[in-house]
Amino acid sequence: MSVQANDDPYVLGRSAEEERRLQRQSAWYARPTRQLFADAGIAPGMKVLDLGSGTGDVAMLAAETVGPTGRVIGVDTNPGILETARRRAEQAGHTNITFIPGDLRAVALDDDFDAIVSRLILVHLPDPATALRDLLRHVRPGGVVTAYEPDFTLLGDAYPPCPLYTRACSWFAQGAGAAGMELAMGFRLHQLFIDAGLEAPRMFADALAGGGPDFLDDFTVYCAESIRSVLPLIVRGGFATEEEVGIETLGARLRDEMLSQNATVRHVLFMGAWARKA
Ligand SMILES: C[S@@+](CC[C@H](N)C(=O)[O-])C[C@H]1O[C@@H](n2cnc3c(N)ncnc32)[C@H](O)[C@@H]1O
Repeated sequence: MSVQANDDPYVLGRSAEEERRLQRQSAWYARPTRQLFADAGIAPGMKVLDLGSGTGDVAMLAAETVGPTGRVIGVDTNPGILETARRRAEQAGHTNITFIPGDLRAVALDDDFDAIVSRLILVHLPDPATALRDLLRHVRPGGVVTAYEPDFTLLGDAYPPCPLYTRACSWFAQGAGAAGMELAMGFRLHQLFIDAGLEAPRMFADALAGGGPDFLDDFTVYCAESIRSVLPLIVRGGFATEEEVGIETLGARLRDEMLSQNATVRHVLFMGAWARKA
């Protein structure tokens, strides 16, 4: 079944809540993103293109990595979210990031990038291999491409079992998958890089994990925010009713379920990949 919340190709929407969710998510995923940049050899002085910048967190991590002698250009279809990204970059003191509104498949770009970085964007593209292949002409020979993407073939889990959390992970995957999100994006990265004309990527897989209030207080808010962003798709697709989801109390119920049994949670799997342009 195919369902769309609206005409926006970005299935998680353009709301203020989605912007907040992206920032919370970025805090969780900053560590593996930095690790990926280090593995890929992104270094001071480089010129980096960030695909689908959202609220600007990946661009800011890249700017930290390349330092004041480097530059970061971020692209996003949503001009509104780039206002937030610009404000946040300015507040963080970054003077070397430029955000360009536009579709990454069509926007005019320089041809001398040292690196293309991307996080949680290939999963939203109908033909990511073609998009990446076309973008490679903007990268110098020997430049590098990185991707960090979720894979919903391994949903979140908990021990002891937390049935509401398991259901919530399924709702997200069902809603987003019905709207066209590639649920096996992590596993597809290897072939995608090759189809784009890159060498076989080096890869890693990781997942958020933890238990106890220090972890769960924020994690369960993040889970509920993620469900909120796809709620229209979940309901429209018939995967759950608004009453079953109970979005206003979902975070608190997830927290209670996990804390009451002192559960350890392992969230959805993410995969990182990087490769050089020949
Ligand atoms: C899930 S967010 C990820 C944001 C950021 N990369 C991060 O990890 O925090 C995906 C972003 O990609 C943007 N986007 C989706 N399709 C796009 C396209 N074809 N060209 C440029 N941006 C796109 C959306 O507007 C959204 O802001």
